[in-house]
Amino acid sequence: QQARYVFGVESSCDDTAAAVLKITDKVEVLSSVVLGQDADHAPFGGVVPEIAARAHAEKIDKVAYQALLQADVPPADLDLIAATAGPGLIGGVMAGFTFAKGLSMATGVPLVPVNHLEGHALSVGLEADVATPYLLLLVSGGHTQLLVVEGPGKARRLGTTIDDAAGEAFDKTAKLMGLGTPGGPAIERAAKEGDPDRFEMPRPLLGRGGFDFSFSGLKTAVRQAAEEASPLSDQDRADLAASFQKAAIEHLARRTRAALEETGAKTLVAAGGVASNQMLRGRLEEIAEGAGAAFVAPSLRFCTDNAAMIALAGYLLHEAGMAPSQEDALALAPRP
Ligand code: KG4
Ligand code: ZN
Repeated sequence: QQARYVFGVESSCDDTAAAVLKITDKVEVLSSVVLGQDADHAPFGGVVPEIAARAHAEKIDKVAYQALLQADVPPADLDLIAATAGPGLIGGVMAGFTFAKGLSMATGVPLVPVNHLEGHALSVGLEADVATPYLLLLVSGGHTQLLVVEGPGKARRLGTTIDDAAGEAFDKTAKLMGLGTPGGPAIERAAKEGDPDRFEMPRPLLGRGGFDFSFSGLKTAVRQAAEEASPLSDQDRADLAASFQKAAIEHLARRTRAALEETGAKTLVAAGGVASNQMLRGRLEEIAEGAGAAFVAPSLRFCTDNAAMIALAGYLLHEAGMAPSQEDALALAPRP
């Protein structure tokens, strides 16, 4: 099979990313450059959309150039350009998607717009050959969903969050405990030294059927516990982080186990930033084993936002005949 070179661009939140894939009968990530903005947003305790948009606009050309250089693939040799067209913070999506449009126009290489969630949903294919359909737990800063992925562009949603996303809950909880940003890794780190049974946490939506999620009750419980134990010592923080993490993961695990039973899926896949959490990965592995299913998750760098997953999703959509025409791609307005 002739090699195909696919360029990816991602800019929907606070990571400016570009990647080059070489696709033959397997997928090879030739480069995956991710430039985070943590330092820009840290003083504000969360991602500031205007700061993110400006940072993407300032850095995307350099990040793209670096990805091409590392891969040693000149733009004219690319076969496809894939870029996130939403959903995300609109200023950032515009910066990346418009850059990709320009590159596509200048080189004549076709452009494929990619839904950011589709990128996460197919990200497992960067490192593993996973047959569809599979049950997907997609857990990121903006989304928490259980989906049956049937192929590129084809997913059936079983459940979603009725309030905060899982990653958002980690971020907000970390903030109110006085741990740093981003919250997910900060909580995972702090929890290592903590007692997960010290603080009692609610069990969201217990007894309620279906596959939806809720994290606001956990957040409230952490706030109350933090107020009662104030001022917090480092040990209090560690115990609170461990208690929250255990409860949040148990919630995700219970719903996922029920979905595995209901669908009889043979493979469970996890994706999105929260899927880089080691305790969650461990629990999902146990659940899959209990249900006689295989568990697969991308390595950590492909769980959090990256452009390699966008390139792969764009390629698969294109191969499946689900990409819009070049004219429509160039005319497409990015989605917030
Ligand atoms: O997929 P992602 O990079 O961006 C979005 O599309 O949202 O996910 C970012 C989210 C953040 O909320 C971050 O706190 C969370 O993933 N996260 C984690 C961990 N690493 C990142 N949550 C829990 N444990 C982690 N180790
Ligand atoms: Zn994401």
